Amino acid sequence: MSLIVEVNELSKQYTPDHPPAVNGVSFHIRAGEIFSLLGPNGAGKTTTISMLAGLVKPTGGTALIGGHNIATDPLAAKQSIGIIPQEIALYPTLSARQNLRFWGEMYGLSGKPLNDRVDDVLEKIGLTDRADDKIQTYSGGMKRRVNIGAGLLHKPRILFMDEPTVGIDPQSRRAILDMTKALNAEGMAVLYTTHYMEEAQELSQRIGIMDGGKLIALGTLDELTKMVGQADTVILEINEGIEGIAQTLATLPGVRQAARQEAQITLLVDDANKQLPDIIISVTATGARIASIEVQEPNLEAVFLHLTGKALRD
Ligand SMILES: Nc1ncnc2c1ncn2[C@@H]1O[C@H](COP(=O)(O)OP(=O)(O)OP(=O)(O)O)[C@@H](O)[C@H]1O
Ligand SMILES: [Mg+2]
Repeated sequence: MSLIVEVNELSKQYTPDHPPAVNGVSFHIRAGEIFSLLGPNGAGKTTTISMLAGLVKPTGGTALIGGHNIATDPLAAKQSIGIIPQEIALYPTLSARQNLRFWGEMYGLSGKPLNDRVDDVLEKIGLTDRADDKIQTYSGGMKRRVNIGAGLLHKPRILFMDEPTVGIDPQSRRAILDMTKALNAEGMAVLYTTHYMEEAQELSQRIGIMDGGKLIALGTLDELTKMVGQADTVILEINEGIEGIAQTLATLPGVRQAARQEAQITLLVDDANKQLPDIIISVTATGARIASIEVQEPNLEAVFLHLTGKALRD
């Protein structure tokens, strides 16, 4: 299968007195594949995508898009890419159709091909009905969808989506995830960044997990969860007295990792059935109050905890 993106030891150090934002990252994306970069704030996801899009200059390594080197052949490389910026760049007093026509003209389209392409994109983003309403009457999620539409006008082979569902309502989030899958079903490759493991799990054929500028794991969901081995994830919600609990629980036999994120403690344990009684006794002995307990099969959260000792979720 042909490769649409080939990244080799890519690095970015913004300033000499700070550690690299991206540090020797290598991966490839197959034509027609959804590939997710999953990682917490500051992991280096946006920097990676920005380098691939030609917006940030790498300080090391190489990247090819559709076989074209981003450093030596940037124009050819960029032709294959549709990029969805995080910031909305639309004219509020114009309609979605007018905004898309504007972007289409920027890509050199005109006349009937432009009209047809705009109609087609409006259909894809599910906004045909609202196409002639002004952008200022749209919800945040609808604006995000128009933004995605603008990135589709020149029929790119790969779409770069940088945390496209952050800060929007659940309905628009659903629409964006479904749209991403529909575009992929038509053969478009997608590079998708997120810090929501559910999105990476639902969408991607393969996932790269980033932390601290490094790609710390890469594979299918199955391959990644196998890294954790036989284990359960236990999620405790603590009402009062959470201070120090994670450290205490980490010392219990059968508890491999314990990480706190606000009122939540995520544990990776050998066998939840065996270890739950000890965990509950240990928490309540400190005077803390448990609000809820949930046991899950290992997922990407567990993989991240296993590899870093930290919680991924926010
Ligand atoms: N223009 C810049 N100049 C200097 N440092 C930067 C710049 N952009 C990002 N950084 C730093 O690089 C690191 C990686 O940031 P980046 O935005 O790539 O992470 P991210 O994974 O996209 O995070 P988030 O989930 O918060 O969007 C961070 O430590 C950040 O502070
Ligand atoms: Mg980012």
